[in-house]
Amino acid sequence: MPELVQQASAMLENAQRILVLTGAGVSAESGVPTFRSEGGLWRSYRPQELATPEAFQRDPALVWEWYQWRRGLIAECAPNPGHHALARLALRRDGITLVTQNVDGLHHRAARDAADSLGVMNPEPAFPLEVHGALHRDRCSGCGRRTAACTEGDSGPPDCTDCGAPLRPDVVWFGESLDPRVIGAAQEAALHADVCLVAGTSALVYPAAGLPEITRQSDGVVIEVNLAPTPLTASATLSLRGPTGEVLPMIVGS
Ligand code: OAD
Repeated sequence: MPELVQQASAMLENAQRILVLTGAGVSAESGVPTFRSEGGLWRSYRPQELATPEAFQRDPALVWEWYQWRRGLIAECAPNPGHHALARLALRRDGITLVTQNVDGLHHRAARDAADSLGVMNPEPAFPLEVHGALHRDRCSGCGRRTAACTEGDSGPPDCTDCGAPLRPDVVWFGESLDPRVIGAAQEAALHADVCLVAGTSALVYPAAGLPEITRQSDGVVIEVNLAPTPLTASATLSLRGPTGEVLPMIVGS
């Protein structure tokens, strides 16, 4: 492992452009449940009953309640050393694109913390492309207007003040397309990256899971950090086994 850490550090150090792709594993040490690991959300809940447009049409109150529960849970969590290390990397160096499948906003919070501690005015270079949306926003299911997440609405989704349709969390559900501008920017970054660093994702959900392959096909290298093997492991240039909260600070600096 120390040798792999050294190799990964050197690859990252020498790269001009780095794409970092994160998944639920990166937030696991903050106490946010993953989806498919032990204790993961999709082991206790059925996605088709909670995370599809059809589920929301059928029972908006149930879907809303589940997302309000997740929002409450995330409000109790804080970024961990993995988030902090990535945020500091993105503020210290040019050429870093952070892409996350997570909707928990912890990369944003780490970016603000890192900007404060490094004395940097603008945390934006450390804000991720959120390819699956963000729980800290709502979106009107009718007119599409985005607003800050509503903290009320215990008995179901509030109505949009513009058009009257129910609000929904601004996240991507099963069967929905990703925002083409957001995934397009991520794919462009993958194409030009010398290194794609993939952390804490099962690499099962496309198109996000296809980003490392884009880098690999354009002669870049792929470094994976995960507790367990994934479908990406066999084709990764380096695969580091361990918790992202420990391994990321070792390979990108803390
Ligand atoms: P998963 O729950 O599918 O996978 C989590 C991955 O993180 C697994 O490979 C674990 O082995 C790994 N892991 C867990 N804890 C870790 C730790 N502390 N350090 C390192 N690795 C750890 O989560 P995602 O891959 O993010 O989509 O799931 C992808 C998408 O599926 C999510 O964005 C969500 C879900 O359905 C939508 O909601 C659209």
